[in-house]
Amino acid sequence: MNTVLKVPKNCLITGGCGFLGSNIASHFLACGSRVVVIDALFRTGGESNFLWLNNQAEEGMFHFIKGDLADEVMVERVFKEHGPFDYICHLGGQVAMTTSLSDPRRDMKTNVLGTFNVLEAMRAHSPDALLAYSSTNKVYGDLNHLEHKETDSRFVPIGYENGFDEMLSLDFASPYGCSKGAADQYVHDWFRNFGTKTVVFRHSSIYGGRQFSTFDQGWIGWFCRQALLQQRSLEDGEMPASFTISGTGKQVRDVLHAEDLVNLYHRAFDRAEQCAGEVFNIGGGLSNSLSLLELFSQLRAILGMPQDLVFERLPVRQSDQRFFVAEIGKAHQILGWQPTVDANQGLKRMLEWTKASM
Ligand SMILES: NC(=O)c1ccc[n+]([C@@H]2O[C@H](COP(=O)([O-])OP(=O)(O)OC[C@H]3O[C@@H](n4cnc5c(N)ncnc54)[C@H](O)[C@@H]3O)[C@@H](O)[C@H]2O)c1
Repeated sequence: MNTVLKVPKNCLITGGCGFLGSNIASHFLACGSRVVVIDALFRTGGESNFLWLNNQAEEGMFHFIKGDLADEVMVERVFKEHGPFDYICHLGGQVAMTTSLSDPRRDMKTNVLGTFNVLEAMRAHSPDALLAYSSTNKVYGDLNHLEHKETDSRFVPIGYENGFDEMLSLDFASPYGCSKGAADQYVHDWFRNFGTKTVVFRHSSIYGGRQFSTFDQGWIGWFCRQALLQQRSLEDGEMPASFTISGTGKQVRDVLHAEDLVNLYHRAFDRAEQCAGEVFNIGGGLSNSLSLLELFSQLRAILGMPQDLVFERLPVRQSDQRFFVAEIGKAHQILGWQPTVDANQGLKRMLEWTKASM
């Protein structure tokens, strides 16, 4: 807990039983904030995260409302009954690219209408709050118009070797890109038009405890699980069953541990006046970037496995970026924030969490 930073008194966390939301909720409960969570419990692990939060909260400090953010009446009622809030962390969302393709209407309702409902309820009932929105680097599109070089282990975009800053053009691709991008722009615009204090964080890949990874969401956790399963087979003297990846495995992301993400959201509240109206690219930065192939060799080394991980390649996923690394200088400059958990240390922690939750 960082005692130097200002602590919110009454904090609303949408998606507070998800991976990131529950980490942020736990942190603010430990800081002494009253925490109100709206979550539809759509995700695997949601109930477990709810119980985890409920068990650590002091009496009267944690309130959970099970509801759909697309329900305007419910959202407004929460603001009226539990507000005014001084901090709103808007993390509730449809998060999987695959689901956005199979059910684009639900994706749009949650991400666009849900965000709109939160913004309008905030404007009416918590006008002095800061709202932080968890957007995504997918708002920049697949970036496939860029030329990439290919090394043995990764793609590198020519001219953007150190990553991308916030000046990169928006280019919404896929239903998920469109819904997150539309919400990102609504959040940004509510500051411009109405003076509502909002900040947009465009996240790269985040991983850590309380993340219940699945095949299509939370790739670091998913591959940690695959590595642990293969290690177990080898220890039992069996041939490990292969898993699948999409594309060559040379696609690169900068990875950020949840502990650093929590610190970011706290710093934003502390510097609300400086960050209101701003957009930040957030990730682990170039020094914490990994391709799938690089991740697999790090996992093998950490687990001390006698052979490489066994996998098969599927076609490239739709709208998949070959390289995304966030240039995080702006967040450092305005928020005094930078990652502290490096990728290797974070992977060791992720393996421990994954093993414990298997
Ligand atoms: N984790 C990452 O790497 C990452 C990267 C980029 C952006 N983000 C964004 O951060 C946010 C949180 O991501 P996460 O990894 O914690 O995902 P998560 O799926 O663990 O959490 C999202 C939560 O939102 C809830 N939710 C979904 N639809 C809802 C609805 N209609 N009404 C109410 N609740 C609903 C889910 O039940 C879940 O608990 C998301 O908006 C996501 O797009 C995450």
